[in-house]
Amino acid sequence: MRELRVIDETESGDAVAEAVREGLLAYPKTLPPWLFYDEQGSALFEQITALPEYYLTRMERELLHRHGREIAAGRDEWRRMSVVELGAGSAQKTAWLLRALDAEGRGISYLPMDISATALREAEEQLGREFPQLRLRPVLTDFMRERPTLPIDAEAQRLLLWLGSSAGNFEMEDAVKILRDASAEMREGDLLLLGLDGAPEANGRETDKKISDLLRAYDDAAGVTAAFNRNLLKRMGRELGAEFCVEQFEHEARWNGRTSCVEMHLVSKIAQSVFVRELERSFDFQAGESIHTENSRKFTRDEARALVAAAGFSTVKSWHDPDGWYGLYLGQRV
Ligand SMILES: C[S@@+](CC[C@H](N)C(=O)[O-])C[C@H]1O[C@@H](n2cnc3c(N)ncnc32)[C@H](O)[C@@H]1O
Repeated sequence: MRELRVIDETESGDAVAEAVREGLLAYPKTLPPWLFYDEQGSALFEQITALPEYYLTRMERELLHRHGREIAAGRDEWRRMSVVELGAGSAQKTAWLLRALDAEGRGISYLPMDISATALREAEEQLGREFPQLRLRPVLTDFMRERPTLPIDAEAQRLLLWLGSSAGNFEMEDAVKILRDASAEMREGDLLLLGLDGAPEANGRETDKKISDLLRAYDDAAGVTAAFNRNLLKRMGRELGAEFCVEQFEHEARWNGRTSCVEMHLVSKIAQSVFVRELERSFDFQAGESIHTENSRKFTRDEARALVAAAGFSTVKSWHDPDGWYGLYLGQRV
């Protein structure tokens, strides 16, 4: 794989151990969402994106397909476009935007960044096949822990992407910091495109989205999201010798109206003590006690625009599906 910096095994192993120790000692217990994305987790996430209940991918793909040309239309003084994507995953949706850029006839370079080597490998394989001219430079990184250094191309307009409503998996101050770090060298006229899932209906808001629609997206009938969540327990078993009995934990999606988040939890069905060999200690669970594994924040349009502004961009346009469930927000560097 070209230009893919492989995170040193011991370094990433230490990070996993440290995150698990810290999270399971916290009260309430919690684990950071980047832990989902080992090889198995990334494959399960791909399956989630194809689920009928997981409308986010479908709607975002449709918006990128429909409005890609408008997003891609740059200013004449830039002959090239440099697309940098945070948490690109396998980049299957991004292909729609790359097609539109390709049709504009501008040279494109694409830097997908992700913590998952498997997802980046898949992105490289698929995009390399479809776009042989594309300058593709995958970057394996944890953008929470390190500020990515990006190549500068004076003749290219830069487009920073953060799709899949992934910004909603972070505390807002962390999401702003990640965006500011990744856009530190961007110049006037460079672009930011955020894909953000909308908040449910309330006080006459412009959508009929129900909390039940949101919860279904994170607790599908086929149980794929449950398997994705439980994979965390399996990963701790594989990498840290943790003796979790996966069947003794229930997958649960909850709506938190105060934070406007769908939360994912792993709830212990019984009182139990779990030994983690690498950490040389046990962790106790009460019956009904949960590990909080993910927040997925849902944004009103004002909150989405406020995030674009906090990152240092002014919102120039937004596009929404006909029911107003999902939004793409385009910002320009001011
Ligand atoms: C919700 S998925 C979205 C994937 C894809 N952009 C999409 O829209 O389908 C989040 C992606 O962000 C990556 N990710 C999560 N935390 C990360 C971190 N701290 N650093 C780098 N990548 C991260 C995951 O590996 C995963 O591919």
